[in-house]
Amino acid sequence: EAVYRCNSKSGTGVVPPEKRSMLQSICYLPGSLQLLDQRKLPRECVYLDIKSAEDAWHAIVDMAVRGAPAIAIAAALSLAVELANSRNNGSGFFSQSRTAKEVVSFIESQLDYLGTSRPTAVNLFEAIKFFKREIAAAADRGITGEDIVQVYVDAAERMLEEDVKSNMAIGDHGAQAICEDLKVKKGVDKFRILTHCNTGSLATAGYGTALGVIRSLHRMGKLEAAICTETRPYNQGSRLTAFELVHDGIPALLVADSAVASLKACGRVDAVVVGADRVAANGDTANKIGTYAIALSAFHHGIPFYVAAPFTTVDLLTHSGTDIHIEERSPKELTHSHGGHGTQVAPSGIDVWNPAFDVTPAQFIAAILTDKGVIRKPRGLHVFDISYWLRGG
Ligand code: MRU
Repeated sequence: EAVYRCNSKSGTGVVPPEKRSMLQSICYLPGSLQLLDQRKLPRECVYLDIKSAEDAWHAIVDMAVRGAPAIAIAAALSLAVELANSRNNGSGFFSQSRTAKEVVSFIESQLDYLGTSRPTAVNLFEAIKFFKREIAAAADRGITGEDIVQVYVDAAERMLEEDVKSNMAIGDHGAQAICEDLKVKKGVDKFRILTHCNTGSLATAGYGTALGVIRSLHRMGKLEAAICTETRPYNQGSRLTAFELVHDGIPALLVADSAVASLKACGRVDAVVVGADRVAANGDTANKIGTYAIALSAFHHGIPFYVAAPFTTVDLLTHSGTDIHIEERSPKELTHSHGGHGTQVAPSGIDVWNPAFDVTPAQFIAAILTDKGVIRKPRGLHVFDISYWLRGG
């Protein structure tokens, strides 16, 4: 049983516990943001009070909040809270009167700072570009600094709302496509779907991307079982995805990453669905370390491998997978248990390579399941008539 706690000192403006779901990673009310500390799951549900971009930067770097969409939304809302409170209370940045130009430059510098937290997922960088465009356009309209803050806050709040809608659309398109493909291929009615890492409610504003597709299949009565990998070394699969599946009462099986190829060889996996941190213009996809190996064994066994992500994860400015910056994390995540926070499990002095992500080449991807539709055989998206791809290539 998870224990509920919130570290908010004032307790005002905090989403009350009874209004939160155990799976809600982001709790926002105007002027107030709490993030579920995912490092403590599944044993404890502890919320961190986030008052500034700096608080969010630490929460992102230290993995209290993780998952490409959740990182971007948490970053965006942290700045919204910092700006709104500072403007309303005449504190912090607004402890002196500010021109519109000063406000724009402060927001830009805070966004750039948030962009230094984690490098691989495109969502945060797309959000930063979007917010910069929005406030620049607002400034061009000649409005005050205080009103520019409001433009920013409104845009950040919209992002939170739209993410859940987008995930439900990914879930519907994805589940339908998988049903069609597998019905033709296998003639069976219920499927065993393997996923990697955590792409669910916890990694997003709600519902999830790849795990959203699994949720939709379950709702449609088309899921025999979800199979989640442990996801070494940080165990997002065993700690978070397993937690979500048990919470929702979805039939599920947890396996070690190293058991995936054997499970496929035994004929116990019908399809793989994973999330994405960035899809390059040629269709190559960066996702949690271990995804590439899962795609290779799926290819070998003729099992369709799908990527589920919002359409905005396709980064047409990144030519191919080799151009994606892969984050390398602390050796402690391997040498110590509990994501580096527990006891030492490897000898001091050993060299460690700990990339957080890898790239799956486009040739191994059957389709990208997006909120706008399904991109089948995503080879060379840079030849991009997007509607062509959405029609099926
Ligand atoms: O290091 P993490 O836990 O942030 O990695 C998360 C993943 O790789 C997810 O698969 C990806 O961000 C998609 S989340 C909807």
